[in-house]
Amino acid sequence: MPSNVADHLYRDFEHAGWERASPFYAGSFEAITSLFARQLLDAVGAGPGTKLLDVACGSGYMAAMAAQFGAQVEAVDFSPSMVDAATTHYPALSFRVADAEALPFADNTFDAVVIGFGVHHFAFPLRALAESHRVLRAGGAWGSPCGRPSASI
Ligand SMILES: C[S@@+](CC[C@H](N)C(=O)[O-])C[C@H]1O[C@@H](n2cnc3c(N)ncnc32)[C@H](O)[C@@H]1O
Repeated sequence: MPSNVADHLYRDFEHAGWERASPFYAGSFEAITSLFARQLLDAVGAGPGTKLLDVACGSGYMAAMAAQFGAQVEAVDFSPSMVDAATTHYPALSFRVADAEALPFADNTFDAVVIGFGVHHFAFPLRALAESHRVLRAGGAWGSPCGRPSASI
């Protein structure tokens, strides 16, 4: 996958920005991004027993909603302070620090992968999409409000 210095600078810029924004995210942007969560989770069929991964989970509200629907949820974000905030809000859920471009999960692990308003923040979006595909089982569902939710890939 091609990369260059500008891409890495973009990643560092994003990372520093989200580290700073994390204490305020739940009280600001979440009010807007969360409006899409129900539709996105419905689009990927999140329900009882669904093994679902929330990539770039931010403050964790979508992971929490999926868990309310009965899904078995894992959620990752590359900002440690964002993961801390999500863990504080939803201590019963599993949040971990991980980059969308190098997911710490085995191939074919999940029934559904969602990325809520994350793709346009990734320095290497194609690498992140390939990673989502790798951890998704055959016939699984992928969805993002920044791209057309698909029934399967
Ligand atoms: C606009 S917020 C979206 C948060 C949440 N998904 C939502 O819908 O509100 C973007 C999130 O992407 C995360 N992020 C950006 N680049 C990332 C990467 N390469 N890997 C994992 N998370 C990343 C940021 O830390 C931030 O929490």
